[in-house]
Amino acid sequence: MSTLLASTSDFLSDNYVTLKFIHMVFAAVWAWSTSVAYGNYLVPLFRDWQRSPHDPDRIRRRNWAMERFDEGAKLEHIAFPLLLITGPLLMLAGGWTPDSGWFAMKLVLIVLVFLPIEIADFHLAHFGGNKEKLRLAGDIEAYERAIHLHWWFLIITTPIVIVSITFTFYLAIVKPF
Ligand code: HEM
Repeated sequence: MSTLLASTSDFLSDNYVTLKFIHMVFAAVWAWSTSVAYGNYLVPLFRDWQRSPHDPDRIRRRNWAMERFDEGAKLEHIAFPLLLITGPLLMLAGGWTPDSGWFAMKLVLIVLVFLPIEIADFHLAHFGGNKEKLRLAGDIEAYERAIHLHWWFLIITTPIVIVSITFTFYLAIVKPF
């Protein structure tokens, strides 16, 4: 067992920079893959709907955008678990511990901010809150509730996410403390 651990650790250390490259690619996909869809489709179409909430055309466009957003979030939700795999591997290979202030702060953000938000987001986009599934099940009330819940979730979490993700990149790259 110890030789397996030793050879794994050697392999990871030898390929540390490649592992960090993979980690950073997933960090970029995770951080920015839904930003254009959110800012340029979801927000304007929801605002338009809020100006005339009973207009069937605006409701149809709102629903279409929300269902497409659920689908588009798959990229982010593939990247996040891969960050949670490559990150600890980097930690092991690089000998990083929470003694490094930047890393301790990064772990606090991951556990207290990113994990709870992503768990809720997985549910809202792909599981019980998936709008397409609710529409195909013909559950109109649950569909409308899910749209409202997901919209408010995005309104509340987006500013938190923008600040904490930017700070996480700063911590990981600049290592200020
Ligand atoms: C969840 C969101 C995460 C984001 C956005 C993120 C972002 C980054 C970035 C941008 C780097 C590159 C730093 C550089 O090039 O100097 C990095 C490196 C690193 N990350 Fe993450 N990471 C995340 C999750 C994790 C997790 C869960 C862990 C470990 C438990 C982790 C551990 C590390 C380590 C050890 C490094 C290497 C630092 C170095 O060699 O300079 N990361 N991360």
